[in-house]
Amino acid sequence: MNKTKLLTLKEYEQPFFGVMQLLHRCNARCRMCNMWLGKETPEELTIDQAMTFSSQLAEIARPGFEFNILGGETFMKNDIERLITHVNSLGLLPICSTNGFLITEEKARSLRDSGLVHYTMSLDSLRPDVHDFYRGTRGAYSLVRSALNNLDKVYHGKQFVCMVAIIMKNNFRELPELARWAKADPRVCSVSFLALTNPCWTFEKEWHKHKSSQHLWPDDEDIPEVLDVIKELIWMKQNGFANAIVNSVEQLQAFLEYYKDPTKPVSHDYRPFKGYVMVKSNGDLSMSGEMLGNIKKTDIRDLWFSLDASGARHRIEQKNTNVEIIINCKHGFEKY
Ligand SMILES: C[S@@+](CC[C@H](N)C(=O)[O-])C[C@H]1O[C@@H](n2cnc3c(N)ncnc32)[C@H](O)[C@@H]1O
Ligand code: SF4
Repeated sequence: MNKTKLLTLKEYEQPFFGVMQLLHRCNARCRMCNMWLGKETPEELTIDQAMTFSSQLAEIARPGFEFNILGGETFMKNDIERLITHVNSLGLLPICSTNGFLITEEKARSLRDSGLVHYTMSLDSLRPDVHDFYRGTRGAYSLVRSALNNLDKVYHGKQFVCMVAIIMKNNFRELPELARWAKADPRVCSVSFLALTNPCWTFEKEWHKHKSSQHLWPDDEDIPEVLDVIKELIWMKQNGFANAIVNSVEQLQAFLEYYKDPTKPVSHDYRPFKGYVMVKSNGDLSMSGEMLGNIKKTDIRDLWFSLDASGARHRIEQKNTNVEIIINCKHGFEKY
């Protein structure tokens, strides 16, 4: 890698955070996500391709680069342990996202042995019926509970587990309670809140008003209460929950705007999102959702400096990129 190429980038244009979707398949049937409709295809990234990409990425990534490895259900990917060990050896920080369904004691042990320490685990509610409803799977809540117990048993408290909850119609009122629970439970270290984005059951711009979103997006008359809850989370973040709530105050403020109208760009500075690397399970690479090419055909060390990349940076800066892509990228809302 020619290091002078890196000098042509502003600091925040260097890759600082990445999401790699290893597979587009799942063992849950969530109401807000359509990944479980996917099947295994020949295009799906192999572990070797993901490893080659990680090596190339490591040459242009900022120190401390967080590499979020996910799916579909991440732990349905065979041999993921090999990728985790490799990502760690490159000095990137692997974080695996999961619904928790497959974390038996044995799996927890093999993940620990691969060097994985950081997990994000979805939990939309402390009420089993609500979590199971959103995950479309009876017993989903109890699988999360088992996963937390198995990790704790194997890691002896040295695991970092961040619970992840999407702000939705049937759970928004209990989110402060979820944060208090995450702070108090020794198996867990934090909670991160996500804004609900288009579940992709419809391509309508006003997807949140579509009938397929009726159990997901809060009713119009509830929006003021949703905003009050987000304000309460901001207050908690500033008063004793600085580490327990992962979202920055800036991101939570962006949520306040987003929940008023999820089709409009938020007023935050979009420039930091130029360092956000996204890879889909077929190898498509984008900068904050702006397509650059495919990692199976072209090296990210070329794609990140291409003409397409300059165009992508311009569109992101002008806020012409999709708000749904950036709203849940917590790092873009941090100071750089
Ligand atoms: C796509 S999942 C992949 C990892 C794993 N299967 C899981 O559910 O945690 C990553 C995260 O995206 C969240 N998610 C799914 N659909 C979403 C939507 N429509 N809006 C916002 N977040 C969503 C999930 O709850 C999860 O926390
Ligand atoms: S949110 Fe996660 S668990 Fe649910 S269908 Fe999507 S990938 Fe699967």
